[in-house]
Amino acid sequence: MANDNDLMKKIVAHAKEYGYVFQSSEIYDGLSAVYDYGQMGVELKNNIKSYWWKSMVQMHENIIGIDSAIFMHPKVWEASGHVDAFNDPLIDNKDSKKRYRADVLLEDYIEKINGKILKEVKKAENRFENFNEAEFRKTNGRVLDNQKKIDDVNSRMKAALEANKLDDLRDLIIDLEIADPVSGSRNWSDVKQFNLMFSTEIGAVAEEANKIHLRPETAQGIFVNFLNVYKTGRMKLPFGIAQIGKAFRNEIIARQFIFRMREFEQMEMQFFVKPGEEMKWYDYWKETRQKWHLRLGISEENYRFHDHLKVAHYANAATDIEFNFPFGFKELEGIHSRTDFDLKQHEEFSGKKLKYFDSELNENYVPYVIETSIGLDRMFLAVLSSSYKEETLEDGSSRVVLKLPPALAPTKVAIMPLTKKDGLPEKAREIIDSLKFEMNCQYDEKDSIGKRYRRQDAIGTPFGVTVDHQTLEDNTVTIRDRDTMQQERIAIAYLKAKLMKAVSFTTILA
Ligand code: GAP
Repeated sequence: MANDNDLMKKIVAHAKEYGYVFQSSEIYDGLSAVYDYGQMGVELKNNIKSYWWKSMVQMHENIIGIDSAIFMHPKVWEASGHVDAFNDPLIDNKDSKKRYRADVLLEDYIEKINGKILKEVKKAENRFENFNEAEFRKTNGRVLDNQKKIDDVNSRMKAALEANKLDDLRDLIIDLEIADPVSGSRNWSDVKQFNLMFSTEIGAVAEEANKIHLRPETAQGIFVNFLNVYKTGRMKLPFGIAQIGKAFRNEIIARQFIFRMREFEQMEMQFFVKPGEEMKWYDYWKETRQKWHLRLGISEENYRFHDHLKVAHYANAATDIEFNFPFGFKELEGIHSRTDFDLKQHEEFSGKKLKYFDSELNENYVPYVIETSIGLDRMFLAVLSSSYKEETLEDGSSRVVLKLPPALAPTKVAIMPLTKKDGLPEKAREIIDSLKFEMNCQYDEKDSIGKRYRRQDAIGTPFGVTVDHQTLEDNTVTIRDRDTMQQERIAIAYLKAKLMKAVSFTTILA
């Protein structure tokens, strides 16, 4: 699926056409990197949330959920390090007046060279039958040269970022003759750090003391509630606190649809453990989260772990679960061993003790934390992009189908009377009434059955049920499977059980 620009465009267009995702404030020409979810999108999003919540909170006796506020005391963000260190290095092009992330300009440069390498390798593979030793040696030389170039850029970039040497970052851009992708100009400003947090004022008077931030992650709402939950929930280590909620980041790179947004949602869980046991739980959560993804039935090849070789100052291990989006493998979820950094920082900044009393050891200590953090919108894009299929059928016609995991599909079943008369609509509505407490159903009587199937395929409805004249005689219906397009005749009495088995979370969670 990787690097397919056309596919991405098709997915964006499809998402709009079928009510999944709209650009925010579209009638005013949109707001960059902000999106709204439409009638189908909100259902898919809710189902993803539900799958996560059920598997994390409902299926784990020792994990509870909270819903903390978006606004938090300003000191929270000083303690967490976000005020000082939640920055992106930005560079302006003096001619085009466009602003870029310096590290992203360099990553794009690396990506281009990578593209060249892949092209060379593909070309060589395609011509292996006319193997020409000299030509292959040349290709090999070029590939190795380019690989070395990538390694050099990577190590200079890493050194500059780690030492916060912004001039070195600019020098690298100049040395590599990187041009503004829009204007082609190489007239670059200095690199400056830019804090990603949005700020606003609380209360009526606009004084500095009233400045607060919109949270850039939901995790801190969990840390500051550690004591409340531990005491009121009578929790024993190890235990987790989970939360789903909005986060805000003033991202400079506004592209890749809902992959990188300024307002997005996170599903985060902080798992508090006894110090020294963190690596055991880190491995447990790596495995558990991987299983969560694979249970959806999305091909395993679309996932890979990317372990961080260099971890943030507060972590002692970190990995990303990367997904093969249409623009390549990118971070979908982070799993971090955050040590006792956050709780200790909040102890220091608040002056309150945030310790756990271990009755077996008769000792108080600050627990260590394993965090799992997944972007809901990125998960939405992963599900949507891997489900989007264009198929040519046996009769030569084609269809676009969203092969969504049935448990996540916005509508589970479409109930369609063959005609609008003879009591068929009434019978169809009767069936909907028997199912609608359990699942989302859609009634559809417009156009031919074939057209209705295509419409349901395009929004990803896993099942289509047709009510015909035979239904009135023997209480049976035809049920069509979205993916195989096979149809079978079944008794209405058996319909609910069949659908429930196919679309409920129990089937994938049990
Ligand atoms: N509490 C840890 C934390 O926030 P992160 O790696 O910055 O870690 C976690 O973010 C996840 O949130 C990412 O793996 C990604 O899925 C999602 N995410 C981060 N920034 C995002 C953005 N601008 N738009 C959409 N999702 C984002």
